[in-house]
Amino acid sequence: MKQLLAVAVILSSLAALASAPTFPKDYRSWQHVKGMVIPDKKHGLYGFHHVYVEPKALKALKDGKGYPEGSQFAVPFYEVKEEGGMTQQGPLKMVAWMKRDKAAKDTGGWQWAAFDPDGKLMAVDVKTGCFSCHEAKKDREFVFTEWADK
Ligand code: HEC
Repeated sequence: MKQLLAVAVILSSLAALASAPTFPKDYRSWQHVKGMVIPDKKHGLYGFHHVYVEPKALKALKDGKGYPEGSQFAVPFYEVKEEGGMTQQGPLKMVAWMKRDKAAKDTGGWQWAAFDPDGKLMAVDVKTGCFSCHEAKKDREFVFTEWADK
């Protein structure tokens, strides 16, 4: 029995490893969807950000549903720099990330993560810190961003 339990523990930790979030280092060559600047430092989404989607998920983004397994989004957040009457992107602060994974049942069938500027995983409780807000978009498979046709 003990041995069985040990095997189960090893298997479940392997399963956890298999689905560990991986920094999507090529995200800047994906499809750029939109950008936004939130200059208020007190706002939870403060910064300059861009939304990128993997090409294979673009149709689902346009349709608002049907994301294929493994589809990814990446959202880099930058500081907001005011200089000489211009509002510019400052240094990178973090990259928010989602990946379609039907095994992630507690978080809407997506894996969630935040990476620091070096691509290292940041400590975030993704269920309360990410999914709780995205849950509002259940009818669009928890994705906020919409494709602008023009
Ligand atoms: C307070 C609500 C809120 C929280 C908390 C939040 N998000 Fe989002 N997220 C948004 C909104 C709103 C957008 C759309 C941004 C836009 O339109 O430019 C978004 C967009 C995204 C996108 C692009 C796909 C989409 O849904 O549009 C990803 C990826 C993402 N968030 C990941 C995360 C991760 C990872 C966390 C936790 C570390 C997180 N979010 C926490 C509100 C939130």
